[in-house]
Amino acid sequence: HARNVLQEFQEACSTPLPRLRQVVDAMAVEMHAGLVSEGGSRLKMLPTFVDRLPHGDEKGLYYAVDLGGTNFRVLRVQLGGKQGRVIKQEYEEVAIPPELMIGSSEELFDFIAKELSSFVAREGDGFRPVAGQSREIGFTFSFPVQQTALNSGTLLNWTKGFKVVDAIGQDVVAALQTCIRKRGHEMRIAALVNDTVGTLAGGRYWNEDVMIAVILGTGTNAAYVERAQAISKCGNVLPKSGQMVINMEWGNFWSSHLPRTQADEALDNETMNPGEQGFEKMISGMYLGDVVRRVLLKMAQEAALFGPNVPRKMLEAFSLGTPDMSKMHADESSDLKVVGNVLRDVYGIENTSLAVRKIVYEVCDTVAERGARLAAAGIVGILKKIGRDGTHSKWKVASEQNHVNGWEEVGSPVASECGKTVVAMDGGLYERYSKFRAYMQAAVVELLGDASKDVVVELSKDGSGIGAALLAASVSQNGRK
Ligand code: BG6
Ligand code: GLC
Repeated sequence: HARNVLQEFQEACSTPLPRLRQVVDAMAVEMHAGLVSEGGSRLKMLPTFVDRLPHGDEKGLYYAVDLGGTNFRVLRVQLGGKQGRVIKQEYEEVAIPPELMIGSSEELFDFIAKELSSFVAREGDGFRPVAGQSREIGFTFSFPVQQTALNSGTLLNWTKGFKVVDAIGQDVVAALQTCIRKRGHEMRIAALVNDTVGTLAGGRYWNEDVMIAVILGTGTNAAYVERAQAISKCGNVLPKSGQMVINMEWGNFWSSHLPRTQADEALDNETMNPGEQGFEKMISGMYLGDVVRRVLLKMAQEAALFGPNVPRKMLEAFSLGTPDMSKMHADESSDLKVVGNVLRDVYGIENTSLAVRKIVYEVCDTVAERGARLAAAGIVGILKKIGRDGTHSKWKVASEQNHVNGWEEVGSPVASECGKTVVAMDGGLYERYSKFRAYMQAAVVELLGDASKDVVVELSKDGSGIGAALLAASVSQNGRK
């Protein structure tokens, strides 16, 4: 019976508080291991070479290109310093042609250069660089990159359905810079940033309490501000500021405490990166709908949930998108009409009974709740690592920090003295899936208890493009001329 399949699935997905706490602890432990040595953990904990975050003084015209979410974007922004902040901003976005996601490196980077070039050609008055100054670019590239400087880094592997094999191991800045030059433009890529890092920088520009950024979109990931001394794998090459932003690549986090089901295993096997991004595959927008589809398919095959025939399209991987799932899950009507409509529109299933619709709704609820609670555990794991989860006593945190040279000099308050910790959040999943968002926020509160009053999760929409531009500004050569 389908109800039995549902119950079994719900049990396998459950994340009661003690289990969630184990995930929190595992996250904090893995973060530590990933900082100590290269390959020390599945969490790559990538140094970003961002050792200063924007403070509001940034000035001038900057460009940003942004690859890695659902859309590709180009943006220009005129920064006016403390008084003016963002004076003017324009951006365009286009869907990434699917063939480019699995094509060649040259095609992909040339596509970016072409879009950038036509965007520059439409540069209007008030948006031209001052004579003698070049156009500088912040490049948001939302994949795992091993950086060697703020403006260079090699691609470690692809995620989120991209597979441009010859780009792996390439310096992505050099690749894009070459394509831009071939088109006859004198533009300089000044900063290469992950979307989480861009969101952190963009968030900090407006709010100095931002310490963490999380993306919940097609993929999922987090970045945060770490003490330079804690990044032992960097050896003695420590930034003077005493801090560095770390791109965690938490999508690849793994722990035996994660509630993995058969549906997750089957999904993983059919992706382009089996065995990788296990956390991401339980949480992010690219995958949630497909977990739901797999459970429904099982119910159709084993319990004839939709009648004697299994809807053919349901056999197709990724045929149920997370937006469809979210639509069904948002259905408040007593007869679950929207659920019925989505089943009809996507799978051609007519006249479903209320009992069937309820089961479908429950599957969506189970998958969304699990993903949201795991994302919350991830956030609390970071808070724990940086001593802001309310469990560190004032004395302990203060004394630990006193032993770390340089930390207090840069003006970072010790945890017990700092006010709020703000998590800047971006991504379509968080923005558009309200029940996912609500489950996540509730789980953060559940995990933090009283300390949750000092933690704010704030939507920082499209902050990553601006963030990349701001980081480009921080190393601009124009200001030095
Ligand atoms: C955007 C960022 O705002 O959010 C992107 O600028 C990022 O860089 C994206 O990847 C995540 O969005 P999506 O499309 O994956 O939901
Ligand atoms: C994937 C990428 C990561 C990115 C995230 C969100 O996990 O590997 O770099 O930040 O998606 O877009």
